[in-house]
Amino acid sequence: MRVISVANQKGGCAKTTTAVNLAASLAETKKRVLLIDLDPQANASQWLGASNPAKTSFSIFSSKIPIQDLIQPTQVTDINIISGHQDLASVEKVVANELGVDFLLKRRLRDLNPKDWDFIIIDTPPTLGLLTVNALTSSGELLIPVTTHIMTLTGVAQLINKYNEIKEVLNPDLEILGFLPSRVDTRTKHSKEILQSLIDRFGNKVLKSVIRENIRLAEAPSFNENILIYDGQSGAAKDYRELAQEVIQLGKSYAKIKKIDHSE
Ligand SMILES: Nc1ncnc2c1ncn2[C@@H]1O[C@H](COP(=O)(O)OP(=O)(O)O)[C@@H](O)[C@H]1O
Ligand SMILES: [Mg+2]
Repeated sequence: MRVISVANQKGGCAKTTTAVNLAASLAETKKRVLLIDLDPQANASQWLGASNPAKTSFSIFSSKIPIQDLIQPTQVTDINIISGHQDLASVEKVVANELGVDFLLKRRLRDLNPKDWDFIIIDTPPTLGLLTVNALTSSGELLIPVTTHIMTLTGVAQLINKYNEIKEVLNPDLEILGFLPSRVDTRTKHSKEILQSLIDRFGNKVLKSVIRENIRLAEAPSFNENILIYDGQSGAAKDYRELAQEVIQLGKSYAKIKKIDHSE
């Protein structure tokens, strides 16, 4: 079971679009995927049409309801979701008197049987607060979408600082899965420049997969359909399928590295 947080405190950088469509593309290859929506705006949950207000990720922080009981099916057979809820916005107050507030999600995830899931994908809010910290503390990997159509690299340094801090203090196992260039429009000089500066700064941590600007991705949520269902032949569907393949391949190389570490 691989746990991947999709995070970047910048709003509108394609976190939710990536969480939903990466989940769908992994599910298409028969991987069993659980999507956890930790965003009070609950965009991923609305997108997938799962918004039972009694079963949401807020309960992970505010109640003892078993995590299995919060999981809802979606229209894609192999994607299940723990949906988001606006009450997540008040989670810091709700847990103020608890011990280990950074580990609340991690502790609850232990109740899942790792054999039941290939991937847990966590969509996070556009902040580096308690919810995102819980996501990163629970994850083995961090996927960072970066849009190249506007100047967004300024916030990335802050995110990397947070990543380093969390790795040092809370979760030494956390690795950067990669930076995902999103909304890439290779016709514009600006988009090319941002892509190049990402590669200059982060080298091979920039994924080979690139998500191009595509109107179909912006349309799909209104139809409650992921991109593979909404327009499976689109460039966007192709891009997310390629991303899923790269994510699967990178997982295999981690497994090898871990084995080598083990034998030393
Ligand atoms: N590759 C893309 N092409 C066109 N529009 C996109 C693309 N990726 C994301 N968008 C749009 O950009 C906006 C922000 O994306 P979203 O995934 O909601 O970002 P975040 O979750 O980081 O706030 C949404 O309106 C979404 O439809
Ligand atoms: Mg979002």
